[in-house]
Amino acid sequence: MVSVMKLLEGNCGRTLTLLSILVALLAIVLYVLESSEQSADLAGMDIQSLEKAFREMNKSCFVLGASGETGKELLRELVDRKLFSRITLIGRRLLTFEDERYENLVQEIVDFEKLDNYSAAFQGHDVGYCCLGTTRAKAGAEGFVRVDHDYVLQSAELAKAGGCSHFNLESSKGANKDSSFLYLKVKGQVEADIEKLNFDRYSVYRPAVLLVDRQESRPTEWVSRKFLGLVSHAFPTAMSIPISSVARAMVANTLIQQDKKAEILENKAIYDLGKLGGK
Ligand SMILES: NC(=O)c1ccc[n+]([C@@H]2O[C@H](COP(=O)([O-])OP(=O)(O)OC[C@H]3O[C@@H](n4cnc5c(N)ncnc54)[C@H](OP(=O)(O)O)[C@@H]3O)[C@@H](O)[C@H]2O)c1
Repeated sequence: MVSVMKLLEGNCGRTLTLLSILVALLAIVLYVLESSEQSADLAGMDIQSLEKAFREMNKSCFVLGASGETGKELLRELVDRKLFSRITLIGRRLLTFEDERYENLVQEIVDFEKLDNYSAAFQGHDVGYCCLGTTRAKAGAEGFVRVDHDYVLQSAELAKAGGCSHFNLESSKGANKDSSFLYLKVKGQVEADIEKLNFDRYSVYRPAVLLVDRQESRPTEWVSRKFLGLVSHAFPTAMSIPISSVARAMVANTLIQQDKKAEILENKAIYDLGKLGGK
């Protein structure tokens, strides 16, 4: 009996030691991930004054993907802050809103397979936001490329031709046109192709996993979000980001004058900007 107890104690001790080492290693990895990206330099920024100055410019914008999770959140921010004199939603279906704050929105319904026929929808917007995207699981590999590359690039081309001066693209952490992963490759390729269009200003946002209670059922994402939700308490930008931070960052970044023509905002910079936009 005594020797069995000793054996158990020994096994428990070893398991606990192993677990502690694993937790410590995970914490180190997360800390490295968290510290690997630059923060946004936001010293001295006063969001209220920036918003006031921006409103006076009477600008207009369009949103692609306003029915999606980021798009919805972005639209809520834009409507609440009343930054634009006109907001146009460009999408494949008509959206309905109960809230009267949304009643002045313009909606352009387009067929993304024949986008050239809808160039008028892209005319005359100062700022464009693109939160369009699908998944390989939903659309297949070809369908994913069609939406996340072709539709996005064609929209950007029409926006540029229509006079848009600032194009904002929601891309993804790890986007890289040379990646061997289809998702990251397509995201990197579309980023690069849009850069060639030479917008006066081009902002790319590369969020990590979006923390959101998604309406659509995506079981794997749900499980990883539950885990990442816990991790994010200690390491808020290591692997994920709340969707509200992304939306607020896109809005806050619109208000800030930039010398750079093209910019890439990694997850940590988005998170910092999101905090500024939340004030
Ligand atoms: N999920 C993540 O954790 C994550 C992380 C980093 C980056 N991102 C990227 O961030 C972007 C936004 O993600 P999200 O999760 O907010 O998007 P989402 O909720 O999946 O919404 C996608 C939007 O794209 C539209 N769309 C999809 N397929 C379309 C098609 N075939 N034709 C026309 N419109 C189509 C949808 O319109 P309908 O409502 O009409 O379908 C919707 O407005 C995507 O590019 C995504 O890859 C996502």
